[in-house]
Amino acid sequence: MKNTYSLPPYKIKMVEPIRLIAKTDRSKRLEEAGYNPFKLRSEDVFIDLLTDSGTGAMSHFQWAALMMGDESYAGSSSFYRLEKTVKEITGYQFMMPAHQGRGAEQVVIPLLVKHPGMVFISNIHFDTTRAHVELAGARAIDCVCEECFDLSNYHPFKGNFDIERLEKLITEYSKESIAGIIMTITNNSAGGQPVSMENMRMVSELAKKHHIPLLIDGARYAENAYFIKLREKGYENKTVKEIAKETFDLADIFLMSSKKDGLVNIGGLIAIKDDEDFYKQCQIRIVPMEGFPTYGGLAGRDMDALAVGLLEALDESYLAYRLDEIKYLGDLLIEAGVPIQYPTGGHAVFVDCKAMCPQIPFDQFPAQAVCNELYLEGGIRAVEIGSLLLGRDPDTGKNLQADMEFMRLTIPRRTYTFEHLRYVAETVIKVYQRRNSIKGVEFVYESPILRHFTARFKPVE
Ligand code: F0G
Repeated sequence: MKNTYSLPPYKIKMVEPIRLIAKTDRSKRLEEAGYNPFKLRSEDVFIDLLTDSGTGAMSHFQWAALMMGDESYAGSSSFYRLEKTVKEITGYQFMMPAHQGRGAEQVVIPLLVKHPGMVFISNIHFDTTRAHVELAGARAIDCVCEECFDLSNYHPFKGNFDIERLEKLITEYSKESIAGIIMTITNNSAGGQPVSMENMRMVSELAKKHHIPLLIDGARYAENAYFIKLREKGYENKTVKEIAKETFDLADIFLMSSKKDGLVNIGGLIAIKDDEDFYKQCQIRIVPMEGFPTYGGLAGRDMDALAVGLLEALDESYLAYRLDEIKYLGDLLIEAGVPIQYPTGGHAVFVDCKAMCPQIPFDQFPAQAVCNELYLEGGIRAVEIGSLLLGRDPDTGKNLQADMEFMRLTIPRRTYTFEHLRYVAETVIKVYQRRNSIKGVEFVYESPILRHFTARFKPVE
């Protein structure tokens, strides 16, 4: 185990109290929540690792920037400050804010679907991206590399596309049926795993050759760029900002949930490299969906906080500490024999619940069952990334089986300390030690789309 980790390049100025409620209360609260941690009240959670989305801490520079917010309906100066930063980072000509990542998706994705039966291909679609693809009448195909599924073995870029398969898919669907290729960086559902520049370049060349629009789903693009700096030959001496710019050069459209590497609590972005006609189509669509193109669902102050946060997230001392937090938690779990996606990714530790609880069938959601146990054990809230999240086949209505059944321990940015992470590791290890007695869950209620948010369960007898 590496015993030196980077130090946090910040200190604490304000605190938010948290408390661990009694075990009997946790048990009651979980039952009331229908054995779905999404339905718990946050005040009943001690350490909240549900998501890294919008849950981070802003800097004092961001809080100061909030005060500069210009709340004009149109042409707000906050918009122009944000636009300047986004153009500086991406080199793209056009930018529109959105209220969050899925807001950006609902504007852009349907515009790319020209006729029924089209497909999108991604290394792995995030769940809201998949939902917008399906709502637009298209289908989502995931095309991640094989190494991704070999959870316990090291590979520097497990988020990569399987290039050979991508080529085959392009031939199979012919370019007229491919609405777009989406590079998810980092690859969230694969374990927050990075995608190499070499891989992204190959994807970009294929997209160009076949005239397929290439999108970056870049919620965590800064973390991805830092992994490239650490692991890819030729990038050691480049800055993260330069690496990010090189990434953006490869694509046509950038969609971002700014709640991650924008270091804000709410916000999203659409940026378009140079296609003015497509930008105009987005402008028309964003008005009824998100809002006027110079605010897109955000307050002026949100745009100012984002303009500052985007640059802070490219700070390399921050990124070094960020990635080490995840590594630290991963190292403690590996030492105790807990199976995880290895090496750890950029925003979370993904515990392999298929290996941990082979007694639970996929449609009794092993990772959901482990998340529930984690809450009972220590008041920690994690999230299932597996067959529950994947949902049902839209054509047959059958439960889809995910390749991986993960419990994601997602680390909010600049929020918890190493002491918190040590407690998380100790709690996961206690659950791991009684893994053989853990039972699955079955539906009491299931909604037809994005079911994991609202479903209710009962433990299987
Ligand atoms: N794309 C990726 C890769 C994401 O991880 C998310 C959100 C979105 C798009 C949608 O953005 O939430 O701002 O609308 N991921 C969060 C998560 C929710 O917990 O992983 P959003």
